[in-house]
Amino acid sequence: MLSHEDNDLLCRVGPGTPGGTLMRRFWHPVCTSAQLPHPDCPPLRVRLLGEDYVAFRDTQGQVGFFEELCMHRGASLALGRVEEGGIRCLYHGWKFNAFGDVLETPNHADPKYAARMKAPAFSVHEEGGVVWAYVGPKEMQPAFSRYAFMDAEPDHRVVLRVNVACNYLQLVEGGEDSSHVGVLHTNMARPGWKDDEFTRNPDVVNPAALASNDLEPALKIEETAFGFHYVALRKTDDPKIRNARVVPFIVPYGRIIPAPAFQFTVLEVPEDDTHTSTYLIVHGDSPVTEEKIIELLGLDDPRYYDRKHSAFRATWADTFGQDRVLMKENWTGLRGVEVEDATIALSQGPLYERSREHLVPADQAVVRVRRVLLESVKRAMQNQQPAALGLDLSSVSACDAQLQEGTAWQDLLPSHRQTETA
Ligand code: FES
Ligand SMILES: [Fe+2]
Repeated sequence: MLSHEDNDLLCRVGPGTPGGTLMRRFWHPVCTSAQLPHPDCPPLRVRLLGEDYVAFRDTQGQVGFFEELCMHRGASLALGRVEEGGIRCLYHGWKFNAFGDVLETPNHADPKYAARMKAPAFSVHEEGGVVWAYVGPKEMQPAFSRYAFMDAEPDHRVVLRVNVACNYLQLVEGGEDSSHVGVLHTNMARPGWKDDEFTRNPDVVNPAALASNDLEPALKIEETAFGFHYVALRKTDDPKIRNARVVPFIVPYGRIIPAPAFQFTVLEVPEDDTHTSTYLIVHGDSPVTEEKIIELLGLDDPRYYDRKHSAFRATWADTFGQDRVLMKENWTGLRGVEVEDATIALSQGPLYERSREHLVPADQAVVRVRRVLLESVKRAMQNQQPAALGLDLSSVSACDAQLQEGTAWQDLLPSHRQTETA
């Protein structure tokens, strides 16, 4: 369990909170590149860490990221005109370029006035199909952290955003919880569960396609420069071989989940205390399509996923679409990995109070997430460097492999011990 005070410390991310202070030291995904599909396309409202912003792509393709409300008298720039190298407020026509320079102030034509002013624009970096911004203290801006998916061929990569109406930590904890995979995702993990027979799921893109039927994995955890990584060791038919699934936790909310032939990089970006934008980036050595991933995640039904607004839609209003008749054949009566994960996180409520839970050894990695984050919050509050900040993360990955007796699990991913500053 976690005390009420520590729960708040980790979950609350608004301006001035300890958790928000930690979060504001990092670069964050603010939208997918596809959400700003072409120069001068419509701008996008973005909620991040309890504050509102606007993102737009100018005539040259450069993305600008501003506070949402116009610096003149606060009209939303998300209603503005994006044209001729900038964004123009509808109210009195003030115009700004992507870097926040004030280009025109039609109701006050003195050019010296415009030259003195600067709109609240933030640093932007676009890479890997994702637009990232830094909204923290300017003097503390860290180097941009690269991930392995940024080096994948564009047609070997899919970027998906799913907005889920609950606190980010519920989604993070689900992702660092190996023991739920063989249970919650039973349909994919253990396709023969009804007949008590284990047949391996042959889908190489499915992260829930477990190689073993062991529901009580032994966990081992090791701290690293980016947070920690842990292994879930599951028994196999051969007593000399165990299945090893290694998953990293990257401060403050990142993980990489292995599928047989792909990696799923998942970033749980807090919009505010009770809303999260999950960025799922799938990459591998062979082509993969958005349609395939959307189907795998169970998001190919508009009742669950609104593609236009990247929103997870299921709620208690229809019991998350759960089908009790289907449950004779299907463990959850839901569909796909993300639908199951998001539904469980939503079922914990908008912001789960962890002082009432009952943990067991299988929850060790979840406990470690909290410990590492609490430590990082303390460091950020003391103006010290939290884990992962400014590191090159491109050699961080995950794996699901067979481990011979006598071999160290850490040797499966030796680069995790050498993650360097970017
Ligand atoms: S409020 Fe934007 S130009 Fe006046
Ligand atoms: Fe899951």
